[in-house]
Amino acid sequence: MFTEISPTYDLTNKILSLGIDRLWRKKLILSAGLKDGDVILDLCTGTADLVFEFHRYHENVKILGLDISRGMLEIGAQKLARENDEMLLLLESDALNLPLADNSIDVISIAFGLRNLTDFGQGLSEMRRVLKSNGRLLILEFSLPIFRPWRALYLLYLKHIIPLIGGWISGSRPAYNYLHDTIYTFAAPGEVIAEMRNVGFEQIEARKFLNGISILYCGKVD
Ligand SMILES: C[S@@+](CC[C@H](N)C(=O)[O-])C[C@H]1O[C@@H](n2cnc3c(N)ncnc32)[C@H](O)[C@@H]1O
Repeated sequence: MFTEISPTYDLTNKILSLGIDRLWRKKLILSAGLKDGDVILDLCTGTADLVFEFHRYHENVKILGLDISRGMLEIGAQKLARENDEMLLLLESDALNLPLADNSIDVISIAFGLRNLTDFGQGLSEMRRVLKSNGRLLILEFSLPIFRPWRALYLLYLKHIIPLIGGWISGSRPAYNYLHDTIYTFAAPGEVIAEMRNVGFEQIEARKFLNGISILYCGKVD
């Protein structure tokens, strides 16, 4: 499905989020506490927007973007070819079975990908495995607003407007119905935090944006 919408993914994202997702990505990067020489793994990287955003802020870190969809990665690879930077690498692989050694990564990011994993607990456990001690995990993920009238309005937008516009631009309305369904049915923030703790993350924090439309979860490895 992601391969099908990959050619229009960036454009649809910009239009439907009114550019706000860029601010959220910036908050994620500023929360990462990066140091020169760090190795970052961006999971479910898609078209690699976050890889390039990280690179814009920190030139002296290595960033590996990983995704299971070849179509999404191909769009990312076109951008990478323009950048021509050896600090950046894209890899087609499964976040549930990372082809990486234990304790090998300083920072893991995952933006709007956790709810797409068939088993997000297994995904978190893999993230914990490959992070070094003192490693940091940053998850940006959609949720639902707490304030009920705002939540109702947002659900209307998600259920009716997004599939209409997203479907029109991409030619795949089901993909944008899927967006609504995954946001609506995904684990509540308390469950995400509990699972992070369960697999061994500590000092967990969750920061809500727009009353809970999206949440930035941060966790550390001892
Ligand atoms: C909504 S997109 C997010 C893309 C990007 N992170 C962003 O912020 O725009 C979700 C991505 O998760 C990827 N994905 C889903 N399951 C995956 C898995 N098991 N392993 C790696 N990537 C996966 C999809 O291919 C898709 O590119």
